[in-house]
Amino acid sequence: MTIRETGCLAGLLSSQNSMKKVLVVGGGGRCHAIVDALSRSPQVEKIYCAPGNAGIGLQAENVPISDTDVPALRQFALDKGIDLTVVGPEASLSAGIVDAFRQAGLKIFGHSKAATRIESSKEFAKEVMVKYGVPTAGYRSFSDFGEALAYVSSRPFPAVLKYDGLAAGKGVVIAADLKEAEEALKDMLLDEKFGKGKVVVEDYLTGPEFSFMCFVCGDKVWPMPLSQDHKRAFDGDRGPNTGGMGAYTGLPFISPEDEAFALKEVLEKTARGMVEEGCPLSGVLYGGLMKTPQGVKVIEFNARFGDPETEVVLPLLKSDIYDIFEGIADMAVGSGCACRIAPMWENKVTMGVVLASKGYPGSYAKGAEITGTEDVDARIYHMGTKMADGKLVTAGGRVMMVVCSGEDIRQAKEKVYSEISKIHCDNLFFRSDIAHWALED
Ligand code: AMP
Ligand code: GLY
Repeated sequence: MTIRETGCLAGLLSSQNSMKKVLVVGGGGRCHAIVDALSRSPQVEKIYCAPGNAGIGLQAENVPISDTDVPALRQFALDKGIDLTVVGPEASLSAGIVDAFRQAGLKIFGHSKAATRIESSKEFAKEVMVKYGVPTAGYRSFSDFGEALAYVSSRPFPAVLKYDGLAAGKGVVIAADLKEAEEALKDMLLDEKFGKGKVVVEDYLTGPEFSFMCFVCGDKVWPMPLSQDHKRAFDGDRGPNTGGMGAYTGLPFISPEDEAFALKEVLEKTARGMVEEGCPLSGVLYGGLMKTPQGVKVIEFNARFGDPETEVVLPLLKSDIYDIFEGIADMAVGSGCACRIAPMWENKVTMGVVLASKGYPGSYAKGAEITGTEDVDARIYHMGTKMADGKLVTAGGRVMMVVCSGEDIRQAKEKVYSEISKIHCDNLFFRSDIAHWALED
């Protein structure tokens, strides 16, 4: 019997043992979608989620441990005999959760701290892309305010300024003029608003943006369906940037050739580059890509599932997600076999709309009662809700995402807005034009 066959047999045997206990780390809509996908696995008997949320609590047991409290999470996994841990947020990965769990002999899906730098350091990501020929915007990085300002002044506007570290989605400024650029550079380099770090100054690119997430282990890459996020708060892509107001799959403006190019030239090349650099990936690689007039280029990498993209992508997965997560967790530590990982996807499209608290992303009230969710024929992923006196109430800026599928985007859109009309709450708003890029002819 060859090693490959032995691996297959091991995979088969483990997939037949249907008593798995899983810990999901995180708590937003993305984690709810992960928990939902795991709950469809016949192998999974029990799901814990730390810290979880009110919606997740309907499908898993919430555990009151912070997603960055690595020692407490590791102790919990040891005490409960957790078979597999799945990590949602980048903050947990950057806190070294994967390294700590592996040291304790615990099985975990996610990248090591060193590999997570593909997201946590813009400069590292740029260096990898340039070294391995992955298409991206030209750049220079600076730690000195004066030098950065002189460089930006010598170039055309808008200027793209990126803080070199995790900044909760607030570390990128597209400065329209020198005044805006100076303010942003001052925040990042002089006042150290996000901590001590460099700034990457990038060429400004144009074109539609899209998200390409893949499961990755070493140099092996398994693509997920493409999706698109909607970052602005209001219809017509107006208003402030948010954590995402909606998403959909099935992007008519990205051709199969563009997709094949992105897979080969961006995701596979990056995965091979990370192996060469001695920090192989073993989780999800998210390519935030742009289709520029010069071809597909990388805007950013994330080392985790995207939010809200995960909420529209995972409902399309036909395969058992436990096999994928465990297969990658095993392969990352030199056991198991790639043959367990064969994601199959529904030939449909999905669309999801976020219901957010009025005022978000600025200040907003919490505690408004939400009714009608039990009548909704759609997936509802909770983002910021809680139970108070037996009632479901708002507890965050983005509150929940309603996701429907369809044969095409028009059908999915009609369904999702009709289901949303069954949900009642005085303090929620949502965009009515999700997927407009796909529907404009
Ligand atoms: P990031 O956090 O790197 O995804 O950047 C946030 C947003 O800034 C992106 O979604 C883009 O809309 C925009 N952006 C980032 N880099 C560039 C670039 N080089 N050219 C144009 N827009 C960019
Ligand atoms: N949707 C963008 C992100 O997950 O970072």
